[in-house]
Amino acid sequence: MELAPHSLWYHEEALPQTRLRTIVRRLPALVRTALKLAWKASPADTAATIGLNVIVGLLGAVGLLATTGVLDALLTGGPAPDRLRAAMPALIGVAAALTARSLLQSTAAWTQSRLKPRVDRLAERRLFELTTAVALRAMDDADFYDAMQRARSRGARGAALVVDAGVGLITSAAGIAAAAGTLAVLHPVLLPLLLVSVLPAGWATAHSARMQYQVIYKLSTSMRRQWILSDLMADRRPAPEIRAFGMRDFLLEQYDDVARLSENAHVDLARRQALARFAGEATNGVVAAFVYAALGVLLMAGAVPLAIVGGTVLAIRMGRSSLSALVGAANDVYDEGLYFSDYLDFCKEAEHRTSQHRLGLPAPEFAGVEVHEVSFTYPGAERAALRDISLKIGKGEVIALVGENGSGKTTLAKIIAGLYEPDSGTVLWDGAPLALLDRDAVRQKIAMIPQDHTPWPLTARQNITAGVDIDDDAVIGAAELAGIHRTIEELPEGYDTLLDPRFKMGHELSGGQWQRVAAARGFCRRAPLLLCDEPTSALDPRAEHAFFDSIRHFAETDPAAPQAIVLITHRLTSVLMADRIYVLAGGRLAESGTHPELMDLGGLYASLFKLQAEAYTP
Ligand SMILES: Nc1ncnc2c1ncn2[C@@H]1O[C@H](COP(=O)(O)OP(=O)(O)O)[C@@H](O)[C@H]1O
Ligand SMILES: [Mg+2]
Repeated sequence: MELAPHSLWYHEEALPQTRLRTIVRRLPALVRTALKLAWKASPADTAATIGLNVIVGLLGAVGLLATTGVLDALLTGGPAPDRLRAAMPALIGVAAALTARSLLQSTAAWTQSRLKPRVDRLAERRLFELTTAVALRAMDDADFYDAMQRARSRGARGAALVVDAGVGLITSAAGIAAAAGTLAVLHPVLLPLLLVSVLPAGWATAHSARMQYQVIYKLSTSMRRQWILSDLMADRRPAPEIRAFGMRDFLLEQYDDVARLSENAHVDLARRQALARFAGEATNGVVAAFVYAALGVLLMAGAVPLAIVGGTVLAIRMGRSSLSALVGAANDVYDEGLYFSDYLDFCKEAEHRTSQHRLGLPAPEFAGVEVHEVSFTYPGAERAALRDISLKIGKGEVIALVGENGSGKTTLAKIIAGLYEPDSGTVLWDGAPLALLDRDAVRQKIAMIPQDHTPWPLTARQNITAGVDIDDDAVIGAAELAGIHRTIEELPEGYDTLLDPRFKMGHELSGGQWQRVAAARGFCRRAPLLLCDEPTSALDPRAEHAFFDSIRHFAETDPAAPQAIVLITHRLTSVLMADRIYVLAGGRLAESGTHPELMDLGGLYASLFKLQAEAYTP
């Protein structure tokens, strides 16, 4: 069975930005951005690396000229001891230049390798600063998600590699300048030949890098699919289901589907790259032979003396190696630059999607929330998840949201919490539009027990405090309220037990226990508004009853208790006491009122309630 048509995982469209000319135009900007990043990571190391490498290039030129001096002294007439004596100063010059050059080269290599881990960390941290700040909606956008994965998997590392390659570019440019300068002093005729001789290999490497990038770009979605599948097959959470449902063959088939796509693309890439390299090398050999033949002809014709020819050969060799280093470095900048551009583009896009800092602060006293004609559609979805929803949450109220699966309850809760911005309509927080208020300040006023809570690989205490500095009494109080305190106390390290069995000394909780931890996290916040999204879905009916009792008790007795509670639940007996019940159906508000009012109405709520009541009576 073919559940995954290739078109889903394969980008067919061409890549306009990989045209060679465009890339050459982008090189300087890329190097500049990378060097700026390097400078930010460590100004001293950046300056030392570039400065030292330029001096290394200059010393190369000094060495070449001194070598020509040595040859000149040795090849002119006169007795051998005299010639040697004449060559002595130049010889010392060569030795000094070469020694200094090697020493400085090693120092430069050291400062350069100090730079890499720093740039790596800086680039990756920037990435995570953005991924944790972008509007939640961006995470539901498949294109954004792809871009994020590309930036994560190679783009961030690209920063340090572009820095490396950029330094290589500057270094080899200095080497070429030195060789070309020497050559110009000795015999300028061979200068253009030298340049021509390296171009074929340069073209081949640049071309094959471009082909590689295109393949990786086209495969980015399929590779993401492949990672997701590999994660599922080698993770402990899905492991029981894979076995219980006999999903092994099915998953392997799915894996083969995407993995073979990647395999074929890479095998084909290898063939095309080999062809390009072969063509480049062949042309390169012919051109090099031509260069040396031309040099021979010049010597035979007596156009240049032997000492100069010797110096020229050395300069050409140094120039050639610098030039191929330059082509290699340019190619690396270009190659890694493509990934680095992905990273930069992603950062720009993410910055754009990060909600701007707002000026307004929420009122100090909680007065209530009003949702006014809110509509919302998930990115890429055909149907709206919410349409024209209006409701009120007053101070001191318990509001219930009920409705069947997919009716939009979770989405509405996230909009009330300011996690999603509605497409139209407004959410008023204490009378002020949520969109104009400072996000962080509003979030501090909301506690959420989300439906899809995360089992953080942290200690029990950290799972409850969520990284906020909260005193032990409050943590224990929240845990007691959620009915998880005793369980945590009985763990080997109590509240300091790591709740992740993938690590030594780590502990696992059951689904219901995890849900209670998530509830404790919500209670611990002591925020005026508490949003509970199916907080008891994993609890048994008795535990659920006790849970709601304790919430009610908390709300009535504790001064730190929330001033309004929004309760989403399937168990309709739990919402009997709510001040108002809103019934959602297909993203619309179907009914609202108190339990008796809705029962009198005899609509959707009444039928759902009767259905459940029947299920519980024998
Ligand atoms: N992240 C998402 N991206 C796209 N569609 C979503 C997403 N989350 C939920 N939906 C869709 O929005 C609708 C409402 O979902 P939700 O609010 O989770 O319903 P409920 O909580 O009432 O079960 C459903 O049709 C669901 O498929
Ligand atoms: Mg839900």
